[in-house]
Amino acid sequence: MLTFASLLTINKSEKTPLFLQISTAISDQIRRGVIPAGSQLPGTRALAESLGIHRKTVVAAYEELLAQGWLETKASSGTFVSHKLPELRPKALQKNPPQLAGSSHKAGFEFHKDPLLQRPVIKGTSTLAFNDGFPDVRLAPWEALSRAFRTVVRQGYRKNLLFYSDVYGEPSLRSTMAAYLRETRGLPVTEENILITRGSTMGLYLTANLVLRPGDLVIVGEISYGSANLIFQKTGATLQSVPVDERGLDVNAIAAICQKKRVRMVYVTPHHHYPTTVTMPAERRLSLLQLAQVHGFCVLEDDYDYDFHYDCNPVLPLAGADSGGHVVYTGSLCKAISPALRIGYVAAPADLVASMGQLRRIIDRQGDQLMEAAVAILFKEGEVRRHLKKAQKTYHQRRDLFCELLKSELGEVVEFARPTGGMAVWATFDKKVLLPDLAFRAKQQGLLISDGTNYSSHLNAARLGFASVNEAEMELGMAILKRAI
Ligand SMILES: Cc1ncc(COP(=O)(O)O)c(C=O)c1O
Repeated sequence: MLTFASLLTINKSEKTPLFLQISTAISDQIRRGVIPAGSQLPGTRALAESLGIHRKTVVAAYEELLAQGWLETKASSGTFVSHKLPELRPKALQKNPPQLAGSSHKAGFEFHKDPLLQRPVIKGTSTLAFNDGFPDVRLAPWEALSRAFRTVVRQGYRKNLLFYSDVYGEPSLRSTMAAYLRETRGLPVTEENILITRGSTMGLYLTANLVLRPGDLVIVGEISYGSANLIFQKTGATLQSVPVDERGLDVNAIAAICQKKRVRMVYVTPHHHYPTTVTMPAERRLSLLQLAQVHGFCVLEDDYDYDFHYDCNPVLPLAGADSGGHVVYTGSLCKAISPALRIGYVAAPADLVASMGQLRRIIDRQGDQLMEAAVAILFKEGEVRRHLKKAQKTYHQRRDLFCELLKSELGEVVEFARPTGGMAVWATFDKKVLLPDLAFRAKQQGLLISDGTNYSSHLNAARLGFASVNEAEMELGMAILKRAI
């Protein structure tokens, strides 16, 4: 005859605690009908003896099953399998449901499939890559973040972090971020100027949707960040591009447009123009601000990689010199720490931030406040600064080596200027080396690079990211590129 203990398979060397192994094994057997409702369970002492374990472990397993509703106790007679099992058995909607096969692939109603939005999605991969300029996520302070997260979760109930909350971001991160942006970038902001977002992308989207109306004119660089262009186009705005030279957007060209048309917004990445990486000097920034004041347009300053400068001190953002409320500043931790850490921010005039919170509320209600509170701890403990200092040093060395190798190994077919900061080199290939072919051949040999078409269809140029590859990976990647050429 089968004994009760023989129904339970447990493994003392497994990581899962024994009491959980036992409670799971018992609930599985109840669910399968092997132990029927109403059956009496053996006493804890007897079961512990037959399993060769401590009685307390069996007591804990029974308590777990009682808490979940699988068991019930009857005074002075023992522990029994409950007659009302805690499993939901949904009722069928109709007696003979139609075959589901295939129906989930195609909507039975019309919806708007926008061809503009149908683009490939970049995902993390273990394949070697000279990517768009992403951080080396191996360097990120994951241990400190998980410690901070544990602290936050433990304090969650007491600190009201487990319920709906503020639509503007977790208050401790909002105020920490305001202080951080004041200290590191000279932005004259307080908490009411800050909206915590899920990354810069959300900040760009909210700004565009509050500022732009169909037919409004947005000025961007020729060439610029494609995702931002899409966001602007989706509002119905019209894009007009101005040239980008080695000092960023041509502000004289913007002035000339303002003479003829009403400009609503200028999108700018002044620290390292995306994608070409050039820096806009202070006098151009001031001219752009002056234009914004005179013509009343919004400057959307996307500071996606402010944190990494190698040759000189950074020029302060336009937002720091804006006294007329014309600049909306966006940034995130996605480049500074990891793209998976979906935490970004907008720094803007308080009335705009208030409306942004209201708009954000109808698509996202609020951010991940547990993670936001944990990240606030990282800032307060100085972890973010320490991480940025270390990453800056590492990326500086990687920038130098990458540029050396690019010149020595591929110098005959690649033109580039050594970037003064950031995480990628803008490389223009000789027309005899077509980037789509090169990217295809490199991929076959184990290296991913862009085929250039996501930046421009005619420039035969791409961003080659150096920050996420170490020395050995960089050398291997360059050798692959050389062979592929
Ligand atoms: C210029 C620029 N702005 C914004 C973003 C979006 O960043 P996030 O991950 O913070 O949404 C990117 C991402 O690659 C970028 O390159």
